[in-house]
Amino acid sequence: MEKKELLYEGKAKKVYKTDDEDLLIVSYKDDATALDGLKKGTITGKGAINNRMSNYLMRLLEKNGVHTHFVKELSDRDTVVKKVSIVPLEVIIRNISAGHFAQRYGVKEGIVFAEPTIEFSYKNDDLHDPLLNSYHAIALGLATKEEIELIKNMSFKVNTVLKEYFLSRNVTLVDFKLEFGKTKDGQIILADEISPDTCRFWDAKTGEKLDKDRFRRDMGGVEEAYNEMMRRVFGEEV
Ligand code: TMP
Ligand code: ASP
Repeated sequence: MEKKELLYEGKAKKVYKTDDEDLLIVSYKDDATALDGLKKGTITGKGAINNRMSNYLMRLLEKNGVHTHFVKELSDRDTVVKKVSIVPLEVIIRNISAGHFAQRYGVKEGIVFAEPTIEFSYKNDDLHDPLLNSYHAIALGLATKEEIELIKNMSFKVNTVLKEYFLSRNVTLVDFKLEFGKTKDGQIILADEISPDTCRFWDAKTGEKLDKDRFRRDMGGVEEAYNEMMRRVFGEEV
């Protein structure tokens, strides 16, 4: 399968049409942004790492009954996915306090919650992705009540599967962001990516940060953290 016309270029990926109108090719870039796009940079090798890791995790989720957009990995950076219309919601699941949660509620990072939390943001760059609840999402026509219920259940299921998986790799899954899409026939499936760009990963023993927070917070060792996550997922041979 080949890339045809460029359909869309985002901050971290390009999306191309293909000969099949139901399939697209995503191409992962090394570009990184943070702070609502204000901070820009490059993380060498990130595109290939995120592509391969995201595909691996989507396959794992499929095995566990979560439908995703993943179809086929074409190369280090390119993957065939099902064409969907993206539900304009960012879904964030948290197991441990960090990032905006810690800031917003004035608590320290690292509080382990008794139950995971879920929150939604309206995916809208001009409005800076404002936080909203499910009633607001329905009122704005972003999704139906039934779709939101499904998205919620799927997101918690993703958390259960990934939390256990990462623990087996000596990684604590702190929090992550998901996006969902709707296929031509109305099915809601997991879309976008699951990677160190979209998850917080802490070493299970030392708490060392192994994700994009190293870039967001100018901590150094960014490439090393992405490579370390790659080793944890795929073993020493990579
Ligand atoms: P937050 O604490 O900044 O709200 O982030 C929660 C999780 O969502 C974290 O794992 C990083 C991820 N995330 C994204 O993938 N994209 C974003 O634009 C933001 C703000 C967070
Ligand atoms: N990618 C997002 C941005 O550019 C935010 C983030 O991941 O921190 O704003």
